[in-house]
Amino acid sequence: MPDAIFPSDFLWGTATASYQIEGAVHDGSRGESIWDRFSHTPGKVLNGDTGDIACDHYHRYRDDVDIMEELGIGAYRFSIAWPRIFPEGRGKLNSAGMDFYENLVDTLLAKNIAPAVTLYHWDLPQALEDKGGWPARDTADYFTDYACTVFERLGDRVKMWITHNEPWVTAFLGYDLGMHAPGIRDKAKALRASHHLLLSHAKAVQVYRGLGQNGKIGITLNLAPAYAQHDTAEDEQAAVLSDGYLNRWFLDPVFKGTYPEDMAKIYRERYDAPDIGDGDLELMQSSTIDFLGVNYDSRKLVTRPEKPEDLFRDVKPQGAEFTAMGWEIFPEGLYALLTRLDGDYGRPELYITENGAAFEDARTSEGRIEDEDRIDYLRGHFEQAHRAIQDGVNLKGYYVWSLMDNFEWAFGYSRRFGLIYVDFDDLTRTWKQSARWYRDVIARGGV
Ligand code: FCB
Repeated sequence: MPDAIFPSDFLWGTATASYQIEGAVHDGSRGESIWDRFSHTPGKVLNGDTGDIACDHYHRYRDDVDIMEELGIGAYRFSIAWPRIFPEGRGKLNSAGMDFYENLVDTLLAKNIAPAVTLYHWDLPQALEDKGGWPARDTADYFTDYACTVFERLGDRVKMWITHNEPWVTAFLGYDLGMHAPGIRDKAKALRASHHLLLSHAKAVQVYRGLGQNGKIGITLNLAPAYAQHDTAEDEQAAVLSDGYLNRWFLDPVFKGTYPEDMAKIYRERYDAPDIGDGDLELMQSSTIDFLGVNYDSRKLVTRPEKPEDLFRDVKPQGAEFTAMGWEIFPEGLYALLTRLDGDYGRPELYITENGAAFEDARTSEGRIEDEDRIDYLRGHFEQAHRAIQDGVNLKGYYVWSLMDNFEWAFGYSRRFGLIYVDFDDLTRTWKQSARWYRDVIARGGV
């Protein structure tokens, strides 16, 4: 590939999430989240790992911001732990929790790093789960109140807001497949959760506009282009439904204020869900976003289902390369996705809010981590992003997942996504080769 040099105002960043890095789960009167409860339930997380300590970022954030400065990133995406701000999910603001984020934002700004804040990256206050969680409509209102408080406190300094991270994961891994907190297996609940997540997004956007703050607000979706395994009508239909299930079910409400008719019909008939209230769709229609955050890690390859209750079946591609998560390395899928969003959803402003990969990361006898595989992965995806920009896609920035190794949800500490290596025994940080390489990419403005 020839050089891929990005526009001079392209934003290079890294991303993290509160529960994955902060630790300090009892400091500053933080309340319990569904991930505390879930990770402490035997058998839910690999090796019984929890986020109790994680990277101890809560205590080491100044050192971590120094690392970001050395990397040369222009923006840092992190999330706020709702139960730090409202230990019970609502009621009185816990100022000790708020102080942590105030200090983090100020520390970033002092180094010229723009904070990009995600309001919800999966750590729902347990008290709200006890009241029904996302399948309960009230949760959308509690979220809106929480969001409003955070806008009021940080909105003078934070100019990029993401309401939700990957609502598909919140809804379906949390309430249908049970692989994430709160570990429920009920499709109707998952569908209700998805609607309340989208509704809460729309409400938070309205509140943000009402405050008249001069930043941008959007949402981050995990998206994957679907490919039919065989050139048959049945497999083509499986790809349409995979796309409907993962992509359109979230994209259409966000951009058009409607649910895709094919999926809505299936869900209505089979699960009598979700429950859409009067005015919900109108509210969604009038809550336009400033940008869409795209999390991309692979494509979907699908074929027709075997069981009647399934819509499609995922298949493992032959002869492909995979990351330590077992995800196919498929950079062309990023190009396909970006150009499709551009074409189907009215040329939106886009950011890659997460892209990155887990690999084994063996240390050499001198303690170095020579992660050529991660460098190759990132280079391949940067090239496809560049290609999309060349073709007119309005892509403005790229946040690599992740700044440092962290608690990878149900996989605990067994999967390393960081540019920076974290030793989970003594919590020291070590630069991987990919971190040095990324620093040079940023300095050069491309690959
Ligand atoms: C995404 C999550 C993020 C991280 C990466 C690997 O789905 O948003 O927290 O776990 O996957």
